[in-house]
Amino acid sequence: MLYCIGLGLSDEKDITLKGLEIVRRAERVYLEAYTSILMVSREKLEEFYGREVIVADRELVESDSDVILRDASSIDIAFLVVGDPFGATTHLDLLLRARSLQIPVKTIHNASIMNAVGACGLQLYNFGQTVSMVFFTETWKPSSFYDKIRENVKIGLHTLVLLDIKVKEQSEENLARGRKIYEPPRYMTVAQCASQMLAIEDIRQEGVYTKSSLAIGIARLGSNDQIFAAGTLEDLAATDLGPPLHSLVLVGKVHDMEVDFIREFAVDSTKFNTIFPKGT
Ligand SMILES: C[S@@+](CC[C@H](N)C(=O)[O-])C[C@H]1O[C@@H](n2cnc3c(N)ncnc32)[C@H](O)[C@@H]1O
Repeated sequence: MLYCIGLGLSDEKDITLKGLEIVRRAERVYLEAYTSILMVSREKLEEFYGREVIVADRELVESDSDVILRDASSIDIAFLVVGDPFGATTHLDLLLRARSLQIPVKTIHNASIMNAVGACGLQLYNFGQTVSMVFFTETWKPSSFYDKIRENVKIGLHTLVLLDIKVKEQSEENLARGRKIYEPPRYMTVAQCASQMLAIEDIRQEGVYTKSSLAIGIARLGSNDQIFAAGTLEDLAATDLGPPLHSLVLVGKVHDMEVDFIREFAVDSTKFNTIFPKGT
């Protein structure tokens, strides 16, 4: 059996009991470590699980999945995914390969950024399409997220923006020379995301949002030092929310109770109270 096991959002203890039992008895345990990260090291996981954990990079999962699936028709393999295995990740290539090899697959679910984001006080029912924000370069500033946000904004829905993670990235020079030397990992911040959103509004000028639009920055959701920060996009572009992971929510139509909840973590209370006067 191939078990896809969600690890939850924060540390080694967020795995479910069901997931932990499988990890402890599986023959091999892989950790998918490129679409999201836990806030603890692999060593900490290994110590708690009492098992060796093999880090699976994108290449192994997407191009070399037979290595992961080796012997899985007769033994159990655990494939660990941060969050939920189906929360903003699917690994369909691995699942399809397992299916073609007639290897049964079972999923053990866990919390995902896709549902835990509700902790910011906005009703999950009122979220529209989730979008991803990639790191811009001098010459590459993809803006398809802008069109999706427009559709959400049009009907008053909130937009969850998931931020780029770059792990095992090669510099252009190392790539060109075929050298397997990797850059340090990079995780996009809420400030970078808000700035990039404003840069695209500047270029497109279609008024999908403005520097005064209300957004919520979220950092390290699910950990003991999680942060929510509500402010305009301009405010958030200048706010440091500390270490990764970060996400941003562009707020759509809000109800009074939601506004009162968000007010508590406004980065600039005076400004927030001017936009949304108390008791209205
Ligand atoms: C591909 S998605 C997450 C997929 C994961 N399987 C899940 O279910 O949560 C990765 C992105 O989600 C966001 N994210 C994940 N965990 C987070 C957390 N604990 N706090 C804030 N943002 C988080 C970040 O923007 C990160 O780059």
